[in-house]
Amino acid sequence: MDKALLSKTAAAMVAKGKGILAADESSGTCETRFKSVGVECTEDSRRAYRGILFTTTGIEQFVSGVILFDETIRQKTTDGVPFAQYLAKKGIIPGIKVDKGIHDLALAPGEKVTEGLDGLAKRLAEYFALGARFAKWRAVITIGDGIPTHACLYANAHALARYAAACQAASIVPVIEPEVLLNGPHTIERCEEVSEATLRATYAALAAHNVSFEHTILKASMVVSGKDCSRQAGVDEVAERTVRVLKRTVPAAQPGVVFLSGGQSDVSATAHLNAMAAMKGLPWPLTFSFSRALQNPALNTWKGQSANVAAAQRALYHRAHMNGLACQGRWKPELEKQVA
Ligand code: 13P
Repeated sequence: MDKALLSKTAAAMVAKGKGILAADESSGTCETRFKSVGVECTEDSRRAYRGILFTTTGIEQFVSGVILFDETIRQKTTDGVPFAQYLAKKGIIPGIKVDKGIHDLALAPGEKVTEGLDGLAKRLAEYFALGARFAKWRAVITIGDGIPTHACLYANAHALARYAAACQAASIVPVIEPEVLLNGPHTIERCEEVSEATLRATYAALAAHNVSFEHTILKASMVVSGKDCSRQAGVDEVAERTVRVLKRTVPAAQPGVVFLSGGQSDVSATAHLNAMAAMKGLPWPLTFSFSRALQNPALNTWKGQSANVAAAQRALYHRAHMNGLACQGRWKPELEKQVA
């Protein structure tokens, strides 16, 4: 466990004005996203698309790290440079998704647990050799009638803690992602309650497994109204509730908190991040680790056509720029209109 390297990586991930591009969609998720824009999903089209994202000129001003999928960390740019090496040369830290996806939690209808602990230490050593300096593991918590259960919260917290400990032992910074899904008709009050319980369980497990808080990054979901709830909370309420939950549960020793976008619209995710980052006296930097809210405009512009590559890159640059401002509380809605 190289603590100096872990500290350096974690600090760079949440450096001022920068956040993380999540580009670690599994091939199945990629297929759904590509289908929505009429692109056939093959190993080569995934490589081409990721190549477009990573070679966008200037994104390193706003992007500190990129989360790669197992397939992607083994792929190369059209010039034959491995993506991880290409990114590192650009000053962007390569990261890697190491969980093996969500599976039904036995005897817990409607609930999921994330798998992937078997053989993890060996995989981490290989990923380190391939250039990865941080990792991601996503747990999924669903809100519904009588759920989440205690069993679900603790099974996921335990897996996150074992994953985080294995990462630190391999000198890889663990990004700990317990995502509370926004799907459903639940209120924002219920989301706040579940988010707090989720983070409490997660941090108790991390402590029990001797995980060093100083060398972890939390990837949190924002506290929002359920997608089908009749009352949709405004930006300030989302920001206040999210920060309240984080302050109650996340140790100040943690170097930073990054947010997933979770299905929020691009601009909502940016507006929420901006409102939180603008608050005074927070114990940690807050920034983004979005997939959809960074990539959607680029993917919708690209549509698999080489003639659209430059415009797709402009779309990604714009969203990265907006979020780079938002994580400093310097974004304004008017800036969205200036998109090329
Ligand atoms: P979204 O921003 O699309 O929620 O994705 C972030 C992520 O990495 C999910 O694990």
